[in-house]
Amino acid sequence: MDVQTLMMLSEQYLAHTYNRFPMIPVRGKGTRVWDMDGKEYIDFFSGLAVCNLGHCHPKVVAAIQAQAEKLIHVSNLYYIEPQIQLASLLCKYSFADKVFFCNSGAEANEGAIKLARKYAKEKRGGDRYEIITMERSFHGRTLATLTATGQTKYQKGYAPLVPGFKYVPFDHLDAVREAIDSKTCAVLLEPIQGEGGVRVPTEGYLKGLREICDEKGILLILDEVQVGMGRTGRLFAYEHEGIEPDMLTLAKSLAGGVPIGALLIKEEIAKAFQPGDHASTFGGNFLATAAGVAALKAILEEGMLENCQRVGKYFLSKLRTVQEQFPFVQEARGRGLILGLELKMDGAEIVKEMLKRGFLINCTMDRVLRFLPPLIITEEEVDGMIEALEEVFKKIQSPNNNNP
Ligand SMILES: Cc1ncc(COP(=O)(O)O)c(C=O)c1O
Repeated sequence: MDVQTLMMLSEQYLAHTYNRFPMIPVRGKGTRVWDMDGKEYIDFFSGLAVCNLGHCHPKVVAAIQAQAEKLIHVSNLYYIEPQIQLASLLCKYSFADKVFFCNSGAEANEGAIKLARKYAKEKRGGDRYEIITMERSFHGRTLATLTATGQTKYQKGYAPLVPGFKYVPFDHLDAVREAIDSKTCAVLLEPIQGEGGVRVPTEGYLKGLREICDEKGILLILDEVQVGMGRTGRLFAYEHEGIEPDMLTLAKSLAGGVPIGALLIKEEIAKAFQPGDHASTFGGNFLATAAGVAALKAILEEGMLENCQRVGKYFLSKLRTVQEQFPFVQEARGRGLILGLELKMDGAEIVKEMLKRGFLINCTMDRVLRFLPPLIITEEEVDGMIEALEEVFKKIQSPNNNNP
């Protein structure tokens, strides 16, 4: 089918929940994606932080192929070997003792919310069900996770929302302290806000939250759906702050592009889940967890964390140079390979211009260009993207100059 027909059928048959760019990707390899017309793009978006290993990593592809030939699905009523392997690896390389697998970030956060409530009820008694979350946060699109999300634009039209969430400003310890009362059971936040505009909190913020949670006997839950699995240069973002959460959620890149979600839990808290308390038909299925084992090993064994740290620093320094040149750039920020360039104007047109030039980038919160390239991106690829961005910016600065 040709491009025009596919786009027409998409409009006709798909629920209109997305505004799509006029591009039909058909193939990917490493940092590159090709569309139906054979045009090549360098991916600085990674399918929204999913393809951290790059597209179609050979070890992930081989794991999926081998597993698909053996067994695709039975049920969590039986023992599933790759699920056990992935859980063991996640516990080995994190603070966690137990893992619950599901299929998405929202579902992982749902699990965390449910477990926090159940644990608080059993451990502390009383009416402890409230969870403090952050303004500008993003935790998913199910009813509970969009309520946890501290942005009213995602909640409009869905009332009544789920009771039991309280919002405070991000990066503000006193606000959390003041919000805690006898109903509070947990604090849930992203260590770096992604959707909210690539916001990195002040050093010591997570440590401060850990201390408050310990003092008040409430749980600290980190949503690392976007920043986990190496995105910040460490396997998990909390590692930068020298603290450990009580629970942590993962999804996106955990299985190298195959849908998956995971809730990582400390032993003491995990005990509040007993058989029948929580479940997911596809959670931890053969394909996703076989891919996850291959993906996690590749991140650790192929120097991706080191590359992320090195290229991330280089990339941020380049974005700062761009900021110095153009007065409509507010700030360059981020950590590792989750980077943002905040503009003083709308960024949607810039994303479209970059697409024409063969670069996939993203814009969030209307004005923040967000860069989430695969962890294997090179300095040369960053240079190419920055050059194209400067070209687009020069055109904005001098719109009559046709030869920037
Ligand atoms: C921090 C964070 N949490 C949760 C989610 C929801 O994940 P999913 O779309 O897999 O449900 C996202 C998605 O962008 C996210 O960035």
